[in-house]
Amino acid sequence: MTTRTPTPDTGIGEDELRGLVARLSLADKVRLVVGEDFWSLPEMPQIGLRKLRMSDGPVGVRGVLWDERDTSLLFPSPTAQAAAWDPEVARKIGYLMGAQAREKDIHVLLAPTVNMHRTPLGGRHFECYSEDPLLTAEIGVGFVEGVQSAGVAATMKHYVANDSENERMSYDSRIGERALREVYLAPFRAAVQEARVWLVMSAYNATNGRSMTENARLQNGVLKGEWGFDGVVVSDWLAVRSTEAAADGGTDLAMPAPNEFWGEALVEAVTAGRVDEAVLDDKVLRILRLAARVGVLGDTAPRGDVTLPADADAQVRAIAARAMVLLENRGVLPVDPAKLARVAVVGPNAGRLSSQGGGSAHVNPDHVVGIPEGLRAAFGPDVELTFRQGAFTHRALADLPLDASVDPATGEAGLGVEFHAADGSSLGTDHRLGSNLVFWPGTLPQGTAALTARARLTPAVDGTHLLDVRGAGEFVLTLDGVRSEFALVSESNDTIEELLRPPIKRFEVAAAAGVPVEVEMRYTLGEAGFAATGLGWEGPRLAEDDEIAAAVADAAAADVAIVVVGTTDDIESEGFDRTDLALPGRTDELVARVAAANPNTIVVVNAGSPVIMPWRHDVAALVWAWLPGQEGGAALADVLTGAVEPGGRMPTTYPADEADVPVLSTEVVDGGHDYAEGSAIGYRLWAARGLTPAYPFGYGLGYTDWAYEGATVSGDAAHGLTVEVTVANTGGRDGREVVQVYLEPADGRLFGAPEPLRLVGFASVEAAAGAKAVATVTVDAATLARWDEAAEGWTVVPGTYAVMVGRNAGDLRIAAEVVL
Ligand code: BGC
Repeated sequence: MTTRTPTPDTGIGEDELRGLVARLSLADKVRLVVGEDFWSLPEMPQIGLRKLRMSDGPVGVRGVLWDERDTSLLFPSPTAQAAAWDPEVARKIGYLMGAQAREKDIHVLLAPTVNMHRTPLGGRHFECYSEDPLLTAEIGVGFVEGVQSAGVAATMKHYVANDSENERMSYDSRIGERALREVYLAPFRAAVQEARVWLVMSAYNATNGRSMTENARLQNGVLKGEWGFDGVVVSDWLAVRSTEAAADGGTDLAMPAPNEFWGEALVEAVTAGRVDEAVLDDKVLRILRLAARVGVLGDTAPRGDVTLPADADAQVRAIAARAMVLLENRGVLPVDPAKLARVAVVGPNAGRLSSQGGGSAHVNPDHVVGIPEGLRAAFGPDVELTFRQGAFTHRALADLPLDASVDPATGEAGLGVEFHAADGSSLGTDHRLGSNLVFWPGTLPQGTAALTARARLTPAVDGTHLLDVRGAGEFVLTLDGVRSEFALVSESNDTIEELLRPPIKRFEVAAAAGVPVEVEMRYTLGEAGFAATGLGWEGPRLAEDDEIAAAVADAAAADVAIVVVGTTDDIESEGFDRTDLALPGRTDELVARVAAANPNTIVVVNAGSPVIMPWRHDVAALVWAWLPGQEGGAALADVLTGAVEPGGRMPTTYPADEADVPVLSTEVVDGGHDYAEGSAIGYRLWAARGLTPAYPFGYGLGYTDWAYEGATVSGDAAHGLTVEVTVANTGGRDGREVVQVYLEPADGRLFGAPEPLRLVGFASVEAAAGAKAVATVTVDAATLARWDEAAEGWTVVPGTYAVMVGRNAGDLRIAAEVVL
């Protein structure tokens, strides 16, 4: 479906690479397969190997630091990337990330995340593309090709069936072979065979009884054997928990260093003959092949002159707008600012846009265009904008505001940080621009046992302000000279969760406008050698009842109300799953009351994965804005004013009611998850069960209307199918349509069991108002094939099939028959 960019080869012959392996001592080979630190591999000058660095992740290239001064482009969430339903968009995103990686001297990007939307409660749902294997594969292939065309390696993760977070280090995904092949492995296979991806990341969980880093059948047998993967299998961080089993199980690189199972223990295992040295040599060969591909070996160099284009921000903005999905529109959108005098902007996410989800995917953007700035710029000075939070839904307060906080030592905007040794002596100071302080292992000054953050805050108004202290450990907080001592304990024993969702203690601070408050927080770290701590601050709040009433009053007095609601990065995050699909706190009440007060209420949902929206039929318009990245507010304004058509289509089924969701729970039962639904994931299961969602897979309106006028189907089982679809833009505006093609056995059965429809292809077309366009959808032969469990192979099951063409899985306009 996509046009393929040839990936460059290594630049060094295989024999030469083998010769380099032979020149390394056993100890050096093991040093190479355990890495050097949290993100890199050691250099080995004796064979011309330079340092190779890795970075997360799927929404941008964070680099090796987590620091607001080391900024990166922040893209919309992967769910949004998939919502464009366009591999070319994915390729563009991949290329931009590859270019940024080059600028940051990063050689391996730990993205894309191609696990499946099996349940909407999955914490990393926002970080994965879709519930459909074909859409996931197409977007994944586009992304990988984009990254690698910039000379940077992409990493398909997490191999495989890492579809939820609870007990993620250990659960066993129990999946039948057909579902495993057709759904969960499919995106990996496409990336290996079509995009020639250079790395695959081995997941934390087990699949069918074998921990993935030790899963010889899936890593050696399927990935490297059947598919011919010649790249590196890197473990997820800390996922290697055995010596021989992981070494023989097909994992090539255990990250990060140090790893107690693969250091000295692996040298001993090889020396004692418990691991064959040839097995180790193959890992080293793969790593050197990767090093050559990314240009850090011998006389290879990173390919071409790749730099970020000057208009990168504008490209990110266009992608974000393109991905937004129009779910409801009763004539209010697009708005014409010239016809508006007053707009009420309300909602907890209006002032604090969730530009990204939580977890290792986090990046530190140079800027985030918030909703107020975006709307102000689009609406111009003549439209009066009012703002109210309306409801309090954030667990943590926002970081200290840069316009009200200075480092007391220097007077510069921001805060001061001092690092201390165990005896209390100073190890140095730093000036920070943000109060969210995350230090990976290895990024604190050597010997740091405690740190002190100092800020002088000058409130703009009188009243009771709120101050958050975050982190697991012991604290001494001094506010204007008044000391309090306390300890905070993480709710979880998952190290990553402790980093991502640290415990919080909130203080009330009586303060007067213009009178500075001296804040000093001393934090004694746990033993882990990393830290996630910080301070949050917010001005005086009304009681929530009064806040909601004020928002409703603002809405009632405005021409249009724009209500921005959604999740936060500690609702949607790696490390834990969601517990329900409701919007947080009193959000639903806020929306319902605003909609009752103003018939022109436009609701914008700022979330990366499904939420229940009980009021969706009572609002004038509903825009799904995703976690839109750094240009979110500007992209939203583009969509609301119609400067850009919201061109996204849902990459996953969105339920009306939590009780309808066919696979919901992420609770681990008997050590694992039974994938009892087989390959009928997502909309296929909704269809099989006869359930109707709020918004079907593939759903999305636009600012124009489309008629499906006809479709012709040609081809056969051996060559695949070509479906030509004529659509007419029958509305009053130019637009874009995503034409979707589904296939179903005519008798609804396959392999003797019911078989629901499935997506086999899609293509987007653009047409001016009143014009027609022909979408050509190609379905290759491999897509027609199904996994035959009895024959243990792929086959196109002969028979008559219905080819159904339409706008989404619930709106199929044309049906044709084909005999395969
Ligand atoms: C995540 C990976 C990530 C790695 C490094 C792990 O916790 O599962 O997706 O690449 O950390 O940050």
